[in-house]
Amino acid sequence: MAAVRWRVAIFLGVFAASQLVDIHIGHAQTTTTNATTDPSEARALNRMFERWEISATDSWNISGEVCSGVATNATNVETNNINPSIKCDCSYDNNSTCHIILLRVYDLNVAGPLPDELWNFTYLSNLILDKNYLTGPIPAAIGNLSRMQYLSIGHNALSGPLPRELGLLTDLRFLAFGTNSFSGPLPSELGSLTRYIDSSGVSGPIPASFANLRNLERVWASDNGFTGPIPDFIGSWSSLTLLKFQGNSFVGPIPASFSNLSLLNDL
Ligand SMILES: *[C@@H]1O[C@H](CO)[C@@H](O)[C@H](O)[C@H]1NC(C)=O
Ligand SMILES: *[C@@H]1O[C@H](CO)[C@@H](O)[C@H](O)[C@H]1NC(C)=O
Ligand SMILES: *[C@@H]1O[C@H](CO)[C@@H](O)[C@H](O)[C@H]1NC(C)=O
Ligand SMILES: *[C@@H]1O[C@H](CO)[C@@H](O)[C@H](O)[C@H]1NC(C)=O
Ligand SMILES: *[C@@H]1O[C@H](CO)[C@@H](O)[C@H](O)[C@H]1NC(C)=O
Ligand SMILES: *[C@@H]1O[C@H](CO)[C@@H](O)[C@H](O)[C@H]1NC(C)=O
Ligand SMILES: *[C@@H]1O[C@H](CO)[C@@H](O)[C@H](O)[C@H]1NC(C)=O
Ligand SMILES: *[C@@H]1O[C@H](CO)[C@@H](O)[C@H](O)[C@H]1NC(C)=O
Repeated sequence: MAAVRWRVAIFLGVFAASQLVDIHIGHAQTTTTNATTDPSEARALNRMFERWEISATDSWNISGEVCSGVATNATNVETNNINPSIKCDCSYDNNSTCHIILLRVYDLNVAGPLPDELWNFTYLSNLILDKNYLTGPIPAAIGNLSRMQYLSIGHNALSGPLPRELGLLTDLRFLAFGTNSFSGPLPSELGSLTRYIDSSGVSGPIPASFANLRNLERVWASDNGFTGPIPDFIGSWSSLTLLKFQGNSFVGPIPASFSNLSLLNDL
């Protein structure tokens, strides 16, 4: 089969930017001061940053303790653009152990494959690695980060198929992997999980499990390599107000079920 490259942006429009921020900061605020970072996570972070030739800003990793300063207080590291940054939850072991729950390395020219150390951060709920030069596949080990809620890895050079193990991330609420070089089908497992998808580079028919995405409000899927018939189940995406499908390779008629999309005002 010829390699098909295309882009699809499926926005499940229930999220406003402010709601995304709420997900980002989650339950990061603990004020305990004497807690220390899980030693294997601290080691993994130091090793990974060394490999990437980056280091903490002076507002965290104070005195060599990675979970300190903005990593543990009420500062929102995203709206304040602390970069790179982490957030820690220090409520473990009677407020004595911190686990890293957010990792943000945004537009810092880090290059190469996703490092193995990443899979040691099993408490991560937010991973933001957009706009770097990351290459290679997303390994199956992503499935070990089972607390993940917000995964954003757009604008890199990642490739290969999206692993089915993404389906193990049962708390996933946001997934953005657009502007990479992924190939192959959208894993059907994603259809039941995410409320927001922004993707690119995958091809083939839209998986049947996407019928479950009934809260979709807006779908941008123009200029992609979608194939097969336009799925009938789109008629059950009853919240849909906008649907852009131009420039695909769909075959066959527009399904009759579309007459049920009473809110649709832009096709
Ligand atoms: C933190 O450690 C200091 C000195 O070791 C101690 O005086 C203080 O009570 C500790 N605070 C808490 C909340 O445990
Ligand atoms: C990551 O976890 C593995 C398995 O739990 C462990 O063997 C390894 O030492 C850890 N890596 C670091 C850098 O701590
Ligand atoms: C944190 O500080 C220690 C001591 O200065 C340093 O060795 C380590 O590389 C720093 N870690 C990060 C992630 O910047
Ligand atoms: C959080 O810690 C940083 C670094 O120590 C400090 O500059 C900032 O004022 C603190 N913010 C809050 C809200 O405590
Ligand atoms: C939890 O920490 C508090 C304060 O540091 C201490 O008084 C208490 O005994 C600890 N509880 C346990 C179960 O270790
Ligand atoms: C941990 O610290 C928080 C905030 O300081 C406090 O509300 C909570 O009761 C503490 N938990 C334990 C188990 O000590
Ligand atoms: C993922 O978790 C499984 C089960 O705990 C473990 O055997 C495996 O080594 C982990 N993989 C990675 C890459 O951490
Ligand atoms: C429209 O929706 C109704 C109720 O869900 C369903 O019975 C009907 O078959 C749908 N019409 C089409 C054309 O799919």
